[in-house]
Amino acid sequence: MNLSGRDLLKLLDYSKSEILYLIALAEELKKMKKEGKDHRYLAGKNVVLLFEKDSTRTRCAFEVGAMDLGMGVTYLGPTGSQMGKKESIADTARVLARMYDGIEYRGFRQDLVEELAEYSSVPVWNGLTDEFHPTQMLADMMTVKEHFGELEGKKLVFFGDARNNVANSLMVVCSKLGLHFVCCGPKELFPKESLVSTCMELAKESGGSITLTEDPMVAAKDADVLYTDVWVSMGEDPSIWEERIHLLKPYQVNSTLMNLAHEDAIFLHCLPSFHDTNTTIGKDIENRFGLKEMEVTNEVFESSKSKVMDEAENRLHTIKAVMYATIKS
Ligand code: CP
Ligand code: NVA
Repeated sequence: MNLSGRDLLKLLDYSKSEILYLIALAEELKKMKKEGKDHRYLAGKNVVLLFEKDSTRTRCAFEVGAMDLGMGVTYLGPTGSQMGKKESIADTARVLARMYDGIEYRGFRQDLVEELAEYSSVPVWNGLTDEFHPTQMLADMMTVKEHFGELEGKKLVFFGDARNNVANSLMVVCSKLGLHFVCCGPKELFPKESLVSTCMELAKESGGSITLTEDPMVAAKDADVLYTDVWVSMGEDPSIWEERIHLLKPYQVNSTLMNLAHEDAIFLHCLPSFHDTNTTIGKDIENRFGLKEMEVTNEVFESSKSKVMDEAENRLHTIKAVMYATIKS
């Protein structure tokens, strides 16, 4: 498998075998890290991380991953560079590609990361846009595989804002890898029809399936993986909270839903998560709407079925695999 020089903008651009290769590579790199084996395969190379939105996991995974591979790394935050204000995406891409061996970009519109890649002569990796979050998917699938030993045929249900970046990407990766994806939320927040039909075609080839439902009880029945994400994503207007709470409260992942799932089902969440009021936004929502937990109850989040910390750790191994596979010659 040769992914040298490839961008990672969305998983629609990758084949099933390429995605499985990246997961297998991540498993190998995870083992090496646990055994303390040196893997500075990319010593002398450098990567730059462009973040127009905040991040904990993605940023740290790219930074630690790059350092583990022996690379230098530069972080540029929302206010740290000329990009956007005084310099176009095209110029930024061409300048950075003269200095770095890879560029990570987290921002708003998907077409901006696509444009960055068009003008960059080095690999560009999408660290989240409003539409897709491909590196998250590699960690999620790695975590499902670690738990069940296989991916094909597993039933993964996403509850909540079913047309956000994470939900869209889950639908894509499940349809590529032959999982049964259930998208569960209110009709108003169903994914775009064009993406649904693309994924249905992909699912036909892989032996998976795509189902859309508004009924959380039907969705949770016999599920292997219950997945949720925040009800309001980065970049959305905070005035939307009231409407979203009203729309999404019935889709909170709680013990009733977990108990409808398979006995050995797991809970996943890309994080960060509002499962208690120990955050400024969580506290504010409690004060304004009386809610102490949102997309997932604290009980489920803290339960043994919750694999969210394994999932978060796997961000490191999978992102490292992406950098290694695309930068190495
Ligand atoms: N899951 C995820 O992308 O987290 P961050 O926003 O912290 O990077
Ligand atoms: N949907 C969330 C994902 C965060 C990792 C957001 O875009 O804020």
